[in-house]
Amino acid sequence: MKPIRKAVFPVAGLGTRFLPATKAIPKEMLPIVDRPLIQYAVDEAREAGIEQMIFVTGRGKSAIEDHFDIAFELEKTMSERGKDLSVLEPTRLGPGNCAYVRQQEPLGLGHAIWCARDIVGDEPFAIFLPDEFMHGSPGCMKQMVDAYHRVGGNLISVLEVPHEQVSSYGVITPGARDGALTEVRGLVEKPKAEDAPSNLIVSGRYILQPEVMRVLQRQEKGAGGEIQLTDAMAEMIDSQAFHAVTFDGARYDCGSKAGYIQANLAVALERPDMADEVRAFALDLLK
Ligand code: G1P
Repeated sequence: MKPIRKAVFPVAGLGTRFLPATKAIPKEMLPIVDRPLIQYAVDEAREAGIEQMIFVTGRGKSAIEDHFDIAFELEKTMSERGKDLSVLEPTRLGPGNCAYVRQQEPLGLGHAIWCARDIVGDEPFAIFLPDEFMHGSPGCMKQMVDAYHRVGGNLISVLEVPHEQVSSYGVITPGARDGALTEVRGLVEKPKAEDAPSNLIVSGRYILQPEVMRVLQRQEKGAGGEIQLTDAMAEMIDSQAFHAVTFDGARYDCGSKAGYIQANLAVALERPDMADEVRAFALDLLK
């Protein structure tokens, strides 16, 4: 079984739901307390043993590249002033640990992943959708990589949502269940609530075999007229093992404003440097 060494981060999206905040700043750079969303995703990948981060970016996303680069003036000034540089440690991705490729047109998530095909090459790889903030220890991808070592093939993270929300997501037809692992029998992107096979949705973490790139190569359009990753995965179910992992942890949909605020509050309430103050304020506000 080949190890999972590479991760793809599709970050070319326009972030229209967060305008005007995201007019000049990529949505992936919005902070949860003091770390941008993309940093949490990269940390989660590193924890799972992933070595190379592949960012599929677009116009106006250069802040992400700057974030993972050396900030020469900042670091020089900070060291001259005797400031602690360790806070920047997680942002260091050396040239061997990151690659950037552009998605030139917004043709869908499947197309974004396909843009990374040459860098991914012929090996299984992970995908992270950074606005799905998966919070827990071990992280979601570590839990998935552990499961991958047992069952191989393809894995996606899933979670239950209220039935009326399924039409915003990819939805699975579940098969046999064994602890946190569920066999995936079918996949459909953004079904109508009445047509949905379950309320188990695909929640933004994937481990896929490289054959998915050959399916994406056909550039077939699906839901919303976009090239959908879910449709390409659905085609692999009959020929390869396909499992879903239920993440043991909390998930915040930071593509939505309410989810983003919830994530900030949850993380702040866990931070020793601010938890007491934030809790006292929140209680007072809610009185
Ligand atoms: C994408 C995927 C969908 C998945 C969702 C998770 O949809 O296509 O299958 O459930 O992310 O957030 P999007 O949010 O890009 O519409």
